[in-house]
Amino acid sequence: MKGVLICGGTGSRLRPLTEITNKSLLPVYDRPLIEFPLEKLIAADVKDILIISGNEHIDQMAGFLGSGARYGCSFSYRVQDKAGGIAQALGMAETFIDGDSVCAILGDNIFFDDFSDTIRNFSGGAHIFIKQVPDPERFGVVEMQGDTVISIEEKPANPKSNFIQTGCYIYDWRCFDVIRGLVPSARGEYEITDVSQWFLDQHELHATILQDEWIDAGTFESLYEAATVVRNRKVGATESAKAHALKEHTTTKKPVSA
Ligand code: G1P
Repeated sequence: MKGVLICGGTGSRLRPLTEITNKSLLPVYDRPLIEFPLEKLIAADVKDILIISGNEHIDQMAGFLGSGARYGCSFSYRVQDKAGGIAQALGMAETFIDGDSVCAILGDNIFFDDFSDTIRNFSGGAHIFIKQVPDPERFGVVEMQGDTVISIEEKPANPKSNFIQTGCYIYDWRCFDVIRGLVPSARGEYEITDVSQWFLDQHELHATILQDEWIDAGTFESLYEAATVVRNRKVGATESAKAHALKEHTTTKKPVSA
């Protein structure tokens, strides 16, 4: 299994923050956004990773991430000249993936579930990660029957459910044949939903419903929310560790004799 981090797109919803800086390098409390999806790949031992970004930002991405040695990884880079969609970006990884399976993650998605075993144990077909949201029309909407996906539709005006596909996709090598045959959608992009649809048609699209928080940090509100959630979890963890240590200390301390 190899990894692809997709950091293309213009970040138009975050202008002027993204005028000079790639969205994935914006801060989420104490770390740049990119480290969150990256850490999901690393946790699953996916360390051979291709980073795809637009030509205006690729130098910053390489400047920050470097060779990958700092993360115990090997990073390669490819430029997506024009923002033509997630499937187009993934298609650029074909020679890098070289017949292997691929786990592709969007550079602006923050996941708190641990799905490293799902990535590690992937044995073919496709696997997507689903979340229930209040505003499904903004995403790829997934209709479920029990644990089975029965339809998937990119940004429908009338969503059939409030389950959506998040920005992590595991595919076997056939995804590249599928991408070569795609045509752009009405918004002029090669849609990742069409790749998942092909696997659904083969009855090979599997899904995990995420239980913990998930954030697509592509807007001011969601980027702000991401920083708050990350901070609360970090500070909360430190506070509870302190409280635990204090409790241990007070319960194990010998009474002071008068
Ligand atoms: C993309 C996908 C969509 C998915 C979303 C997750 O949307 O096309 O299916 O639900 O990522 O973040 P976009 O970011 O291109 O609007």
